[in-house]
Amino acid sequence: MAEQRLPEIWPVNGDFVAEVGDVDLSQPLSDAAWSLIEDAYHTYGVLIFPNQHLEQGEHIRFANRFGDIDLSMQKSMDVADDRLPREIADVSNLDPDGNVMGEDNRLLYFGRANRLWHTDSSFKPVPANASCLYLRSIPPVGGQTEFADARAAWDDLDPDLKHLIEGRIAVHSIATSRSRLGFEMTPTENATYPRVPQVLVRTHRVTGRKSLYLASHAGQIIDMDDCEAEALLEELMTHATQRQYVHSHRWRVNDLVIWDNRCVLHRGRPFDDLRWPRDAQRATSLDVAPTYVQEGVELPPGLVAATATATATA
Ligand code: OGA
Ligand code: MN
Repeated sequence: MAEQRLPEIWPVNGDFVAEVGDVDLSQPLSDAAWSLIEDAYHTYGVLIFPNQHLEQGEHIRFANRFGDIDLSMQKSMDVADDRLPREIADVSNLDPDGNVMGEDNRLLYFGRANRLWHTDSSFKPVPANASCLYLRSIPPVGGQTEFADARAAWDDLDPDLKHLIEGRIAVHSIATSRSRLGFEMTPTENATYPRVPQVLVRTHRVTGRKSLYLASHAGQIIDMDDCEAEALLEELMTHATQRQYVHSHRWRVNDLVIWDNRCVLHRGRPFDDLRWPRDAQRATSLDVAPTYVQEGVELPPGLVAATATATATA
């Protein structure tokens, strides 16, 4: 019997971002192919798989290899639409009929907050591991996705800042990232997603590498004055997203790009979203435990209850 071909890994940038070719993700992967992809995922943090032709079930099955599926939060919003199943986050600018959303569509403004640097689902107690973003249509200009290597950003961080933030906990909320662009969540939506604690510095479970864990969802730091915390979060984000840590991906139709949210930041770049359809669909797997549990950091007593109440009444 002929040997099964193995995928080829083409590094884009040292140890950050690689292209993976000669693999058809619509087919079940051999153990050898999966182990190559999993190793590359851990080494490079971002993998680009060009020219994939995936049914929704195949897309979800691939994401599921990295962990349990993260169900899209949009379905619990007051304006939920049903263009895609709950296992796939709709990151497009399309309405359920497949037309470009109108200016009056609330989900358009919700989605625009993806243009702020973030990691996926850090507003959930157990956040995302692998995001698998599949582009079915792209605008002719703009709409790139940028990725920042939060491991390299940690390595290069000033030692005093490292000391200041290690073991610290930030408070993340979807309402925080949305409010930065003037988008208001409803009280019911806020009640569904109370604020959650996440460590600021993570250690990767597999590679042992440390990284900054930042997102536009983060707004406060426990035991720190709010203004000071906001300024520190801004300083860390500015550091982590300097050009030397950033790769910009210009999409081709049918690219599947996956990234490790535990150690990679990302943001979408603007495009004329009232004009061009951009059909972006993301299947995402969850991490295994809250970040503070993984890091062995103790929560101050009463924190969980306090953050939940604060959001519900915000
Ligand atoms: C996402 C996301 C940015 C983009 O899918 O989580 O933030 O460029 N996407 O679509
Ligand atoms: Mn995202």
